[in-house]
Amino acid sequence: MTDEPNPHDEPHLPSPTLWPIGFAIGVAVALVGLIINPLYLSTLGAVIAVVFGVLWARAATADLRGRPVEVEPERRSREAAVEHVEAGGSRFPRSRFLEGATLGLGGVIGGIVTVPIAGFALLPPFIGQKKHEVDLGPVTDFAEGQWYVATFTVDPAEGEVSSRTAFIRNNGALTTGGSSVPSFTIISNRCAHLGCPVQANGPSGQILGMKNIVQHTANGKVTLVPVVPAGFGCPCHGGQYDTEGNRTAGPPVRALDRYDYLIKNGNIILASSYSVSHVDNTGAQAKIHKYKLVGPGEHVDGIEQVFYPLNPPHH
Ligand code: FES
Repeated sequence: MTDEPNPHDEPHLPSPTLWPIGFAIGVAVALVGLIINPLYLSTLGAVIAVVFGVLWARAATADLRGRPVEVEPERRSREAAVEHVEAGGSRFPRSRFLEGATLGLGGVIGGIVTVPIAGFALLPPFIGQKKHEVDLGPVTDFAEGQWYVATFTVDPAEGEVSSRTAFIRNNGALTTGGSSVPSFTIISNRCAHLGCPVQANGPSGQILGMKNIVQHTANGKVTLVPVVPAGFGCPCHGGQYDTEGNRTAGPPVRALDRYDYLIKNGNIILASSYSVSHVDNTGAQAKIHKYKLVGPGEHVDGIEQVFYPLNPPHH
């Protein structure tokens, strides 16, 4: 008899691998991507997680799929008796079963804890988004060539919380293909840097003897204040824009957002808003480089859009 430990007495442990770390990195990249870049970053994270998850699962089950299993000698005969091992076949050891069960149970518990929290945190911005149309009143209220600061409520049920401001100019009729349609420039006052309310750089129409217009539409009170802007400026960090909303100075990363619109029963109706990289030409002839609505500070074109929020410095 010897006190030397029998190597077969050591519990069999899985060899350490990098697969779980890769899997965790993939999940983290996918979750971060959901917030900053669902298309590219989330997809990349999901691919990393799936690849490393499969490799991890293969490594964890390698023993079950082929490696000969060592069983303590003193237990061999007893377990052989009760487990009816077939001649020549390998046997499913208890340690392997416990290891797999622990991993599986941990995964299930992790999922039960994580999924509802992640759902509550991440899903609301993606679901239940109602589309609101805003009735700004008769087109005839908007004198041709005149700018107005329009203040309105997007959803009367939400009250002041949904109050918004836009700069609107009636560009006159735009003739295309033999037909003539009204043309409006409708620019959001949300600064494209950090979202402060942009102001019109110029005298209010009241100074020039023009009256404010107040309408009561299906969306509640709409106020139109005539202005004569040379451009638009942000009081927060000095961002400047021209009258088409193009950035001319300061830290904003793109042009001001705009609103789609339609004419219904003689009234102008604001539809959804969208983001703009820049605008060529002006007024009815403007060529708008249009993108889906994104947050302040976010690039919509160029290589920077991939790296948001790592914005390059602006001068
Ligand atoms: S928020 Fe407008 S310049 Fe910073």
